[in-house]
Amino acid sequence: MEFLDKLVLPQSEHHLHLLEYILMLTLILFLPYLSALTGSTLLSVWFNKKGRRSGDAKYLRFSKSLIDLVTFNKSITFGLGIIPILSAMFCYAQLLHLGETSVSLSLLFSLITFIISVIAVYAYKHSFHLQDLLSLLKNENKDENIDESTKSEIDNYRWKNANLNKRSGLYGIIFLFITAYLFIGAMELASESNRWGSDYPFLNIIFSLSTFTYFLYFILLSIAVTSAIVLYTFFRPNADHNIFDQDYLGFVKNYALKSGLISTITLPLFILLNIISTDGNSLSFGIYLIAVLAFLLLMLISIFYYIMIKESSAKYSSSVVFMLLIFFSFMVIKDHSAFNTSYSQHINVLAKEYTKYETEFKSQFGGAAVEISGADIYNGRCIACHQFDRKVVGPPYNETLPKYEGKIEDLVKYILNPKKINPEYPAMPNQGLKPSEAKAVAEYIMQTYQSGK
Ligand code: HEC
Repeated sequence: MEFLDKLVLPQSEHHLHLLEYILMLTLILFLPYLSALTGSTLLSVWFNKKGRRSGDAKYLRFSKSLIDLVTFNKSITFGLGIIPILSAMFCYAQLLHLGETSVSLSLLFSLITFIISVIAVYAYKHSFHLQDLLSLLKNENKDENIDESTKSEIDNYRWKNANLNKRSGLYGIIFLFITAYLFIGAMELASESNRWGSDYPFLNIIFSLSTFTYFLYFILLSIAVTSAIVLYTFFRPNADHNIFDQDYLGFVKNYALKSGLISTITLPLFILLNIISTDGNSLSFGIYLIAVLAFLLLMLISIFYYIMIKESSAKYSSSVVFMLLIFFSFMVIKDHSAFNTSYSQHINVLAKEYTKYETEFKSQFGGAAVEISGADIYNGRCIACHQFDRKVVGPPYNETLPKYEGKIEDLVKYILNPKKINPEYPAMPNQGLKPSEAKAVAEYIMQTYQSGK
C-alpha cells in the first residue's frame, strides 16, 4: 500500500501509544456494530426464506423487524461503520509502517465490501417496505373496475420487487461476511508478527486457520448479539406493546431466546478453537486470563437465557446486552494484547525511523546543522583521546584511518560500536552517538586526515 506509506508521518513512541489507544477505541465501536448488522441481516435473510417457503406471514414480519432493527439511521452506518474502518486503516498503516504486512490493504478491501453490503442491505430493507405497499395496492384494487393492463403492471412490479428483495438480502449478507472476514484477517495478521513480510501477503490473510476460527466465532457472536437486541427492543419495560399482537410477540420471544441461548453456549468452543489456532508467540498470560473471564461471562449470559426460557420472560434482556458489550471489550483487549506482544519489536524499528526523520527535519531548518557538525563532535568528544599525528589515550588518526579510506561505512560502524582492536591500547568506550552524528564525525576526521596528508 504505497500511497498509505507515503501518508505515514514518523511518530515518536508516545504518539505510537496514542495511536494504539485510538485503534482500541475504534474496534470497541466497530466490532459490536458490525456484529449487530451481520447478525440481523443473516437472521432476516434466513427468516425471509423460511417465510417464502412456508407462506407463514409471521416469519416475513419477523424478517422485516430484524432488518429494521439496525438500519433505522443512515448516519449511524457512517459513524459506526465507515469512519471506524478508515480510522483502523490509518492507525495500522502508521503502527505497522515498514512492517511489510498487507493489513491496511485488507482493511481497504473490507471498506469497499462494507459499502457494497450497506447499499445491498438498504435496498433489501426498502424493497421489503415496497412489497407491503404493492400488496396493499393490489388488494385495494381487487374489486375495483380497473383495467387488466394496470393489474398486470402491478403484478409485474411486485414480482420484480420480490426478486430484488431476495437478491439484495443475499448480496448484503455475502458482502458482510467478506467484510468481517477481511477485517478479522487484518487484525489477526497484525498480531502475528511471524507472518509478516511473506511473499504472498494477501493469501496470507485469506488462508489462515486463526482467521477462519475467529470468523466463525464472530458470526456466532453476531447471532447472540442480535438475539439480545431483539429481546431488548421488543420487551424493554417502556416498549409499546400495543403495536404488536400477543401471538407475534410470543413468536419473537421464543425465537430470540432460543437463538440467544444456542449461540452463547456454543461460543466458548469457538473461542477455544481460535486460541488453539493462534500462533503461540502472540499468546501471553494476560490473554489466557482474559479468555477465562470471557468464558465466565458467557456462562453467566447462558444462565440468564436459561432462566428467561424457563420463565418465558425477557426480563434480563438489558443485562444481557450490557454483558455482551463487556464481552466485546474483553475481545478487543485480548486482541490488543496479542497485537502488543508481536508489536513490541516493531516499535524499535519505528523509533529509529523517527530519530532519523527528526534530524533530517531539523537540518532542513538549519537547526540540526549545529547538532550533527562533525567538527563539533570531534572537538567536543574525540579530541580528549585522539589527535591526528600523535598518540593520546587512543591511537593517532594518521595511523588508524588509512585502512578506512573508501570504507566510510565501516568507520561509522566502528564509531557507533567500537570493538577491541589493538592490544597496545585499552578498548575505546562507546561514545553514544546517533547514527547521523557518527556519520558526520567520520566524514570530518576522514576529510581532515586526507587534506593533511
Ligand atoms: C576515552 C577515550 C576515547 C574517546 C573519547 C574516543 N576514542 Fe576513539 N579510540 C580510543 C582508544 C583507546 C582506541 C583504540 C582501541 C583499540 O585499538 O581497541 C580508539 C580507536 C579509535 C579508532 C581506530 C579504530 C581502529 O579500527 O583501529 C577510531 C577511528 C576512533 N577511535 C574514532 C573515535 C571518534 C570518532 C571519537 C569521537 C566520537 C573517539 N574515537 C573517541 C579511545 C577513545
